[in-house]
Amino acid sequence: MNFASDNIVGASEQVLRALIEANSGPLPAYGDDPLTREIETRLGEIFEREVAVFLCATGTGANALALSALVPPWGLCVCHRESHVIDDECGAPEFFMHAAKLAGLPGTGARLAPETLETWLAELSPSVKQMPPKALSLSQLTECGTAYGRDEIAALSAIAHRNGMKVHMDGARFANALVSLGCTPAQMTWQAGIDVLTFGATKNGCLAAEAIVFFDPADAQAMPWLRKRGGHTLSKGRLLAAQFKGYLADDHWRDNARHANAMAQRLAEGLVARGMRLAWERAGNEVFVIMTQPRAEALRAKGCAFHPWSPANLAPENALAADEGIFRLVTSFATGPDMVDAFLAQVDETK
Ligand SMILES: Cc1ncc(COP(=O)(O)O)c(C=O)c1O
Repeated sequence: MNFASDNIVGASEQVLRALIEANSGPLPAYGDDPLTREIETRLGEIFEREVAVFLCATGTGANALALSALVPPWGLCVCHRESHVIDDECGAPEFFMHAAKLAGLPGTGARLAPETLETWLAELSPSVKQMPPKALSLSQLTECGTAYGRDEIAALSAIAHRNGMKVHMDGARFANALVSLGCTPAQMTWQAGIDVLTFGATKNGCLAAEAIVFFDPADAQAMPWLRKRGGHTLSKGRLLAAQFKGYLADDHWRDNARHANAMAQRLAEGLVARGMRLAWERAGNEVFVIMTQPRAEALRAKGCAFHPWSPANLAPENALAADEGIFRLVTSFATGPDMVDAFLAQVDETK
């Protein structure tokens, strides 16, 4: 009963089959192969416009490279104060941006509110001493498992663009957010003002594959060199493209996300039915449940795995009692209903 994350599982069989199919025979190296071209075209179809695509093996690399294409060394990238880029990437974005900084703003449920961004930008000094904001990075899903609505993305993007900033979306769980909102990839990205997307695939069925998708190819002009000098250009680039081939075929990526989200819904409903409350509303495949620390320890003693989470972004009305904590439970394409029910049965035993 391991709900620690959605990267604790391997790849889906469909992705593995695509890897095997792409394995034999010689092909040009460094992504200069027909399979990579095919994925670039396919992503253009999925996003309904011309895109510039750069495949990568890690989410941290994709985020850091995407931001380095948007922000000069003397600029700021604004994000939520608990976003993955600022909290969980060991400084990779700043490293790749050559000393540009990340500025973290608060927001309940790890969502930035347009008013917070607007006010913060208005209070920045126009002095040359102040690093100017050059990009906004939004996580979709957020680090609290919530999702930005399309209107929120559009409002935040409009503020960023008015202030001369580009907008990046960290879509490590892009598919989970997309099927939850029930919109098209275009609607959740460029039509709402997103300039660059980290299109995550690793957590939702691939072994190690992410795509940096630029909606204005002009923003991507330096990317071939940024990626190569950053050590993220795979010599056997076809193996990234092959994973995407399996991932995108027959709507596998959205099916996987629908399944993971449905398992999270089953889990959340089961926990609420047992008298627990959620820290934030569940949008995708992550459930943040509030329970007492002794109960969490008892579940761990029974072999259940999940992570504790920071209460920093709780709404005041949801404040924790002294013995309570927040715990993150994540489902994936490989989570079965039996696993969810087995966990709930353990919860019943720890009353
Ligand atoms: C919101 C978010 N962004 C990006 C990533 C990608 O990180 P990694 O470098 O581990 O692939 C993760 C993975 O945990 C994540 O949760």
